[in-house]
Amino acid sequence: MSKNKIDLLLTVPSGSLQISEAHPNSVSLNGDLIQLSLVIPTYKERDNIRNVVKILSQLLDELIPDNYELIVVDDDSPDRTWEVAQSLIEEYPQLRVMRRQHERGLSSAVIRGWQAARGHILGVIDGDLQHPPEILAQLLGAIEQGADLAVASRHVEGGGVSSWSIVRRFLSRGAQVLGLILLPAVLGRVSDPMSGYFMVRRSAIAGATLNPVGYKILLEVIGRGKVGTIAEVGYVFCERKQGESKVTWKQYVEYLHHLVRLRLSTGVLGRVNQKIGFPIGRFLRFGLVGLSGVFVDMAILYLLSDPTTLALPLTRSKIIAGEIAIFNNFLWNDAWTFADVSMKQQEWHQRLKRLLKFNIICLAGLGLNVLVLNLVFNFIIPNRYIANLIAIAVATIWNFWINFKLSWRITDVK
Ligand code: GDD
Ligand code: MN
Repeated sequence: MSKNKIDLLLTVPSGSLQISEAHPNSVSLNGDLIQLSLVIPTYKERDNIRNVVKILSQLLDELIPDNYELIVVDDDSPDRTWEVAQSLIEEYPQLRVMRRQHERGLSSAVIRGWQAARGHILGVIDGDLQHPPEILAQLLGAIEQGADLAVASRHVEGGGVSSWSIVRRFLSRGAQVLGLILLPAVLGRVSDPMSGYFMVRRSAIAGATLNPVGYKILLEVIGRGKVGTIAEVGYVFCERKQGESKVTWKQYVEYLHHLVRLRLSTGVLGRVNQKIGFPIGRFLRFGLVGLSGVFVDMAILYLLSDPTTLALPLTRSKIIAGEIAIFNNFLWNDAWTFADVSMKQQEWHQRLKRLLKFNIICLAGLGLNVLVLNLVFNFIIPNRYIANLIAIAVATIWNFWINFKLSWRITDVK
């Protein structure tokens, strides 16, 4: 490839996923500000990209000639979609192409595209023609008439899905209901919160640091932006003609993760969270892992000490069960709760050190548990179960906090 061609690629923005107030180079060819920047995220869309660019350009050339740009953000597709897109620039000068090699994922691709964008209005559309380009005019019109956000929706007048199976419809609606329960203030504002086809006024999201996981970038925009009026335009989600969908079970897990993260960092909970600086998300993960440890402990205790199984003495069984549970919890906490920390310290001696610390802290936690149980039971609440609950809560917080501060922290200062 000639150097000339490489130069035509956009530089991939780095750092936090924040959109600036107005892009310093926000002038179009004739000196005006660009009105619209439309991002097309792609992954393995080689057979679609040419058509997408052609159709979008034709429509926008009619609508707002010289006043828009198309930004393809490709995640280094193995089918070299970025290369095909790049070859179109000569024919479509309003097209810009970004090839990301060090980051992946739909939502962050969209945001990286917006970071390089020069428009007042930032938009996104799938690169597989499942989003009908014809409604671009309506989306744009809605923003021009004052909306901060215009969303293409399958669930308003004129919207729908072409031939989805019952299962897919059910999953889609189930995900929406779950979101409505967890995040009513975000998902309740639009009829199709899963839409990946929308436009937003730059000023509504400028300054906010977006932090998405997975596919559903719209949640992030509504959850963290300053979005006033929202307009919706109905559309029918067409079938794919070329290429294939990248959605797997992983996207459902990421969606859940995204909901929980937004729940913890926005609204009242988010403000409390920020004030006291307590890592609630981490604590919840730690608690879940602890719960898994209870089941491990129970199961091993049964296997070792039950008269119908090995019938070993109770104390000996419990010590073994407890140790195995601690080991179980360590593995999960290391791989999940504190994954960001342990990823940076992967050597065996470092892992072993963490395991030892964790073990000692948890044993101390057990001592604390017994102590608090006795204190509360004898001096405050003479109910052994309530006292035990309090003791467990205190020990869990101890275990979490001390492990957080001592076991999973960056120790090897260079
Ligand atoms: N850059 C980049 N990186 N693009 C990606 C990635 C990625 O990791 N994964 C998917 N894409 C691109 C695809 O190439 C396509 O252009 C678009 O994102 C949507 O991906 P599909 O795999 O086709 O998803 P879908 O058809 O199930 O659509 C679902 O998600 C859309 C989000 O844009 C539905 O929920 C739609 O309603 C929704 O609009
Ligand atoms: Mn698709």
